[in-house]
Amino acid sequence: MSEEPRILLSPPHLGEAERRYVQEAFDTNWIAPLGPNVDEFESELARKVGTRGALALSSGTAAIHQALRLAGVGRGDRVFVSTLTFVASVNPVLYEGAEPVFIDSDFETWNMSVAALERALAEAKQENRLPKAVIVVNLYGQSADMDPIMELCGAYGVMVIEDAAESLGASYKGKASGTIGALGIYSFNGNKIITTSGGGMLVSDNVEALSKVRYWSTQARDPALHYEHSEVGYNYRLSNVLAGIGRGQLEKLEDRVAARRAVFSRYEQAFEGMEGIEWMPEAPYGQSTRWLSALTINPIMTGVTTSELIRTLAEENIEARPVWKPMHLQPLLRQYDYYPHSLQFSVSDQLFARGLCLPSGSSLSEREQDRVIACISHQIHSRRPTHESA
Ligand SMILES: Cc1ncc(COP(=O)(O)O)c(C=O)c1O
Repeated sequence: MSEEPRILLSPPHLGEAERRYVQEAFDTNWIAPLGPNVDEFESELARKVGTRGALALSSGTAAIHQALRLAGVGRGDRVFVSTLTFVASVNPVLYEGAEPVFIDSDFETWNMSVAALERALAEAKQENRLPKAVIVVNLYGQSADMDPIMELCGAYGVMVIEDAAESLGASYKGKASGTIGALGIYSFNGNKIITTSGGGMLVSDNVEALSKVRYWSTQARDPALHYEHSEVGYNYRLSNVLAGIGRGQLEKLEDRVAARRAVFSRYEQAFEGMEGIEWMPEAPYGQSTRWLSALTINPIMTGVTTSELIRTLAEENIEARPVWKPMHLQPLLRQYDYYPHSLQFSVSDQLFARGLCLPSGSSLSEREQDRVIACISHQIHSRRPTHESA
């Protein structure tokens, strides 16, 4: 194992402003969930992404759960979900006793395949089993191609929930990623582009829907002097202390996007012309934040598999991760329906087999990036089949 300091995949990157807002919370004894930092964090974020409202919650997962409640998802309902994602996109579907149906990605965006979605919706319509909602994931900092997705779902009368946990700061045709679906969610988990250590946000132009979630997420307390309850509630609100961290972080969002994009560009330049390495493409309809620098490695052309490379990086004290294992391959979820990109070919299986994510933090120094680059280059050069041996 290398003696060099550890390089993490996507560590938190904090500044001084966060300390000031948290100090304010302490000074004014606003340590409870809710308080001025929460109100300000919500309005500042809504202004930044251009929605009429935003609601701060304890996690992105909680935000997805509440979005599904708003969509009226219940026992036996179906919900379509991008398969190439983290399990948190799907777990709330299971909380409600509903049935997820997984939709593949395409190679152009790594996000939801419009062709697969179209097939799934047409079949569901025919069988009279249309989903209550479609959860579209915006992967690794890049928006899915929302226009055709919105058009298709609109034609079938299905609500779109945007899981933008990984794409705060990205754009789609001039709009903020996460604001195109009827409801959008962001995550402020420790590894995200901005963090509150843990937290999430639900955004929408439908302020009435957000008020409903405001009520549900504070234990669904009815207006009365005593404690009166007529609906199931949740304890899902963000604390005023954590919202203080979020306010400081949000001020720096554009800097964080620029820094992550710069890390990506440096990797891309370093491996320019190297056969067998392909970067996650940036779709022409918007700007990706490059939350994680993701690529695929062709094992025949490079002589190295993704898992070998991850292990070699780990020996150098560098954290790298495989691309998400698709949900339709997970033991928990294997029994549910899956719609691949084409009848013959599953794109997400291929991306999982060959994909990996490199250290991408906005505080990653050039020296640290050079360590990552050197380790990968060395591994590939030592293994790449020569013409003589090939
Ligand atoms: C795509 C996706 N959806 C949902 C979540 C859940 O967010 P949280 O960890 O804030 O609950 C995450 C990350 O954690 C994610 O990457």
